[in-house]
Amino acid sequence: MCGIVGYIGNKDSKDVLLNGLEKLEYRGYDSAGIATLNDDGIQLFKVKGRIATLREKVDEDVEATMGIGHTRWATHGEPSEENAHPHQSASGRFTLVHNGVIENYYEVRDEYLAGVSLVSETDTEIIVQLIEVLNKEYNDVLESFRKAISLLKGSYAVALIDANDPDTIYVAKNKSPLLVGLGDKFNVVASDAMATLKVTDQYLELHDKEIVIVRRDKVEVQQLDGTALEREPFTAEIDATDIEKGTYPHFMLKEIDEQPFVMRKIIQEYQDENDNIKLDSDIRQAMLDTDRVYIIAAGTSYHAGLVGKQFIEKIANVPVEVHIASEFSYNMPLLSEKPLFVFISQSGETADSRSVLVRIKELGHPALTITNVPGSTLSREANYTLHLHAGPEIAVASTKAYTAQIAVLAILAVDTAKAKGLDLDFDPLKELGIAASVMESLTDQKEVFEEIAKEYFTETRNAFYIGRGMDYFVVQEASLKLKEISYIQAEGFAGGELKHGTIALIESGTPVIALSTQESVNYSIRGNVQEVAARGAKTCIISIEGLEQESDTFVLPHVHELLTSLVSVVPMQLLAYYAALHRDCDVDKPRNLAKSVTVE
Ligand code: F6R
Repeated sequence: MCGIVGYIGNKDSKDVLLNGLEKLEYRGYDSAGIATLNDDGIQLFKVKGRIATLREKVDEDVEATMGIGHTRWATHGEPSEENAHPHQSASGRFTLVHNGVIENYYEVRDEYLAGVSLVSETDTEIIVQLIEVLNKEYNDVLESFRKAISLLKGSYAVALIDANDPDTIYVAKNKSPLLVGLGDKFNVVASDAMATLKVTDQYLELHDKEIVIVRRDKVEVQQLDGTALEREPFTAEIDATDIEKGTYPHFMLKEIDEQPFVMRKIIQEYQDENDNIKLDSDIRQAMLDTDRVYIIAAGTSYHAGLVGKQFIEKIANVPVEVHIASEFSYNMPLLSEKPLFVFISQSGETADSRSVLVRIKELGHPALTITNVPGSTLSREANYTLHLHAGPEIAVASTKAYTAQIAVLAILAVDTAKAKGLDLDFDPLKELGIAASVMESLTDQKEVFEEIAKEYFTETRNAFYIGRGMDYFVVQEASLKLKEISYIQAEGFAGGELKHGTIALIESGTPVIALSTQESVNYSIRGNVQEVAARGAKTCIISIEGLEQESDTFVLPHVHELLTSLVSVVPMQLLAYYAALHRDCDVDKPRNLAKSVTVE
């Protein structure tokens, strides 16, 4: 949520800032701005809208070798030029960008900023105004920065520049992600290494409540009390081409197409030389030690967790509960004696999940994070990590991370079952290879799904997806995909539950997409389709080889019954993609959303 970038060096900063913000747009894109500093002082450019609009506004003739930038996902205050970052103090001396939410906004305002008239509706502005007020007392910018940061409650990643000092960017972080990138005679600041990968692959990881003084030739990491900290840089292992669209019109389509490769990469990463599962023995032990797994996740990752529960219970015989992260803390269930918490998160930064992790660590329970970003907060703070190996996912709508999560959960379940000595006739690595080929055959038939999307979704304002058993979990994901990128109101419903009320919404022409990949429910889900068809619904059945009937709209090639979700979701992703495309929606950056949700 919100992206920050900063540059201090000996070249013009505009390119690094604007290119960096473009790479961070997935974090929020309702307004943006940059501030640069040269001998003439601060130059501030802000817009409501995207980085492309900001580019048009930035004065090409202004040259400055330092600056900070921000792309926003609004929390406090509507998206507008006034609320866009950077924000400035009353005198204009201090300029600041912020990602996060300041929880004690009103307290700080009332206690310290009585004489200051605030010009925006943001919580961010109080930080920069506070620094100016404190600096009147301390007459020392670093001291004032430290003091201001120590007064803040909530989440923040901030970068501050002082118009009187062209040689320093002050940085601080708590809960929100922030990295400092190291270069030759320059340094950068970024919410995500992707933003500045073009200029450096060397980064310092920052921990909560640390501050950093960033200069052209030096970076000092300190605790809030000023104690100096040693920090070794790490190499960001992202291939720059992974974060480019290449010839694809959208990242989402590229990422849907990448799924077979991701499956093969997972097989490679989790297979030893004897073709057995390769998994950290501590994770295996944690799975053996637990009496109940608690899966915590949000959105698409939560939907993957629902599938994962079936694997872990059916294959490994370990009880599992799946919880929406944002609800868990308020409705904490009675925990078993030996719980193991499994956090599923593409980004590894989701604040709702992180607050659960903090809570359960306080209670002393072990945690495993399954993530696409191994250095992320959820990965660092958990006891164990399983990596998804899906490569950067840029489109806001998650696709390849979902299938990667399901694949890794299947491997985890089978590994546990084997460690428990259970009898199994399911080889997940072999079956994942088959699923990968089926995925490929599906992505090769895009025109089929484009036609279905045109037929069912071009005009409609709502849609239903129905399924039973494993298919029920996939239809929940299918409906999330459709609504988030095409803005069609969609529901993923348990086929048998419709008749208990929701069927009242079915009218003539309401699209109902049914999924049938499980033998045990093939008959009953078809009955549910008949029920809605009798009430005028426009129905479509996607089934699987072996269970198909003549009237089915599409038949998926056969895969192992436990892994059908890996392949049945692909048509659903493509249906959502083409629905959004034909309704002229911004596929990769749907309205109101951001990729990495770092506020609770
Ligand atoms: C939907 C989507 C979101 C995320 C959710 C959790 O397409 O991407 O629902 O799945 O915000 O994000 P992560 O997995 O990063 O924790």
